[in-house]
Amino acid sequence: MQRMKLFLAASAMAGLLSVGASAGNADLVKQGEKIFNTKKIGNCLACHAVNGKNINNPGTLGPKLQGLSAWPAEALYAKVYNPYTTNPISAMPPFGLNGVLDDHQIKAVVAYLKTVK
Ligand code: HEC
Repeated sequence: MQRMKLFLAASAMAGLLSVGASAGNADLVKQGEKIFNTKKIGNCLACHAVNGKNINNPGTLGPKLQGLSAWPAEALYAKVYNPYTTNPISAMPPFGLNGVLDDHQIKAVVAYLKTVK
C-alpha cells in the first residue's frame, strides 16, 4: 500500500513536471518567434520567409525556411551561432559569434525553428 502511494505520488509529480516543461517550451517558442520577426533583435525575416508561418513582407536573400523540425537542435544552434561552419561563403550573419544574440536568445530561436515543418 505504501508503495502504491509512493508510485501515485511519483506519477503525479512526473505529470506536473512534464506539463511544466511543455508550457516552458511554448513560452520559449514564443520568445524565439518574436526575436525572429523583430527588426531590432534577430531580424531573421529580413532574409527568410518561413513555411507555414504568416510573416509580413519577408526578404528573399536567404532560402524560405522549411523542414527544420527534422534538424537536430544542435545543428540549428550551430547555424544561427555561426553559419560559416557549414557554409564558408554564407551571406547570413553569425548571430552568436558576433554577440548579436546571446545563448538564451539563440535557444529560443532554435525552439521556434523546431516548429517549422
Ligand atoms: C542577411 C540575410 C540573412 C539574415 C538576416 C538571416 N539569414 Fe539565415 N540564411 C541566409 C542565407 C543566404 C542562407 C543560405 C546559406 C547558408 O546556408 O548559410 C541562410 C540559411 C539559414 C538556415 C539554413 C536553411 C537551410 O535550409 O539550409 C537557417 C536555419 C537560417 N538561415 C536561420 C536564420 C535565423 C534563425 C536568422 C535570424 C536569427 C537568420 N537566418 C538570419 C541569410 C540570412
